[in-house]
Amino acid sequence: MMKLSLRVNGRDVTGDVEGRTLLVDFLRNDLRLTGTHVGCDTSQCGACTVHVDGKLVKSCTMFAVEADGAEVATIEGAAAPDGTLSVIQQAFQDHHGLQCGYCTPGMVMTAASLLRENPKPTEHEVRQYLEGNICRCTGYHNIVKAIMAASGQEMPAMAAE
Ligand code: FES
Ligand code: FES
Repeated sequence: MMKLSLRVNGRDVTGDVEGRTLLVDFLRNDLRLTGTHVGCDTSQCGACTVHVDGKLVKSCTMFAVEADGAEVATIEGAAAPDGTLSVIQQAFQDHHGLQCGYCTPGMVMTAASLLRENPKPTEHEVRQYLEGNICRCTGYHNIVKAIMAASGQEMPAMAAE
């Protein structure tokens, strides 16, 4: 077993993990942060997306020990402590950006990263940025709409419903 210590959603945490333990499993099983989902375990679906030191990471592609000393953000840290949804979460709710919700934590974390890098993305840029996140339900349209709304923009009329 190996020891690790890191900050997760602003809280210092420690753990004992095997070298092969994936970050997503440490988050879900050891820290009980089950909002980070496992869809494929092979780096394709994006359901496990978190931020590590501000970078977007599919947490099924990273060993937990690689996050030693890092600052990790998961979906559980997105809302305010009083439960007020983040602007992006609220936009997903307002624009029906989810159905089953399985992809949603990863989508929200990806959207947060996009809007940090590019506060006013075009619809095309939003769709490109979401390429690593698969949604089986929504057809993506309302997800893109929600992210555009969270950036303070409307979808262009041609692309709108
Ligand atoms: S579970 Fe990590 S990309 Fe699908
Ligand atoms: S809302 Fe079901 S997979 Fe995206």
